[in-house]
Amino acid sequence: MSRLAAWFQERIPVSGEQLRELTNEPVPNHLKKWWFALGGTPAYLFTVQIVTGILLAVYYQPSAATAYESVRYITEEAAFGWFLRSLHKWGATFMIAAVILHQMRVYFTGAYRKPREINWVIGMSLLMTTLMLGFTGYCLVYEQLSYWGAAVGANIAGGVPVVGDFMREMLLGGEGYNPRTLPRFFILHAAVLPGALVLLLIVHIAIIRMQGVTEMRFENEPEGEEKKTFNFFPDHMYTELIVGLALMVILTALSTLVPATLGPKADPLTTPEIIKPEWFFYVAFRWLKLFSATVAIVSTGFIVFTMFAWPWIDDLIRKKTRFADASIWIGIAGALTLIALTLWEALVAH
Ligand code: HEM
Repeated sequence: MSRLAAWFQERIPVSGEQLRELTNEPVPNHLKKWWFALGGTPAYLFTVQIVTGILLAVYYQPSAATAYESVRYITEEAAFGWFLRSLHKWGATFMIAAVILHQMRVYFTGAYRKPREINWVIGMSLLMTTLMLGFTGYCLVYEQLSYWGAAVGANIAGGVPVVGDFMREMLLGGEGYNPRTLPRFFILHAAVLPGALVLLLIVHIAIIRMQGVTEMRFENEPEGEEKKTFNFFPDHMYTELIVGLALMVILTALSTLVPATLGPKADPLTTPEIIKPEWFFYVAFRWLKLFSATVAIVSTGFIVFTMFAWPWIDDLIRKKTRFADASIWIGIAGALTLIALTLWEALVAH
């Protein structure tokens, strides 16, 4: 052993053997296919968001008086500021899409069933945190749409029965948008929500390590044959590395070809003719337009609650009814509704 290695070994008494054991978790063979291992993709994109976010925070100034000008400076004057901002924006879009795709893979393969119910609930909390990160980030730019997006978001929070007023005040730091609001969004976006995401991820991954990934039997595999596995390190890391590199190329190309733009500055006195949130809230926005505010908010709360409780609801359906495959049809109906409402909102002005 070299003297340097011995020096470290004396101070951090972890052997190479122990490290190998920790990283050599055998994973089922189907994880060689990227779409079964989609969980690693949002984790990678979250890292991209942290790095680009920290660099943006060097120039961003979180107050209503300075935010817009600082974003303009990042976009037009700071060296590679436009590129970092665009990477952060495209990274957010890809991260949200990757979380949704990962959740769909978990759902349609039934990987949320016993004993993984708690990890599904942790996953749902990861989804909510990721969406909140997207919402608060959108509000930071202080352009017309981010200002009015924040106002609409706060009104929706205010419409929640019983706790609505409290939630709106906590979000805005007062009755309406005021000088305390933007710093609040910034603290949520840059500290509270990423911190929560990291903690949730630690629990998510720890549970996956303890339980292992769900074993799957495919139609072409003979019954009774022992399941094939391969090592997490380095084999699975290669898959993640290739996906990471491919994503970096795509993100770089998109950031260069379709860079983040800057709309007109927020004007609290003029409501824009068309208010649109980011694409990932199109579905909720269209839902809101279809019903009265109370019906839309209460039904959304009910749908989110059902999603959290899905492993137990699914268990009841499978035990008490003859529709063992109901989850597949409910999932397909849910996914089609999501796509239809998103497209609808995307294609019409109002
Ligand atoms: C930031 C978001 C998330 C990250 C980084 C993440 C990460 C991961 C990773 C790395 C795995 C290992 C297997 C795989 O790659 O598929 C996994 C599995 C799992 N995830 Fe996530 N996840 C996230 C969000 C979610 C969401 C939204 C749900 C569902 C509501 C969820 C539920 C699960 C479950 C139940 C498993 C176990 C799957 C199995 O045993 O086959 N995760 N996650």
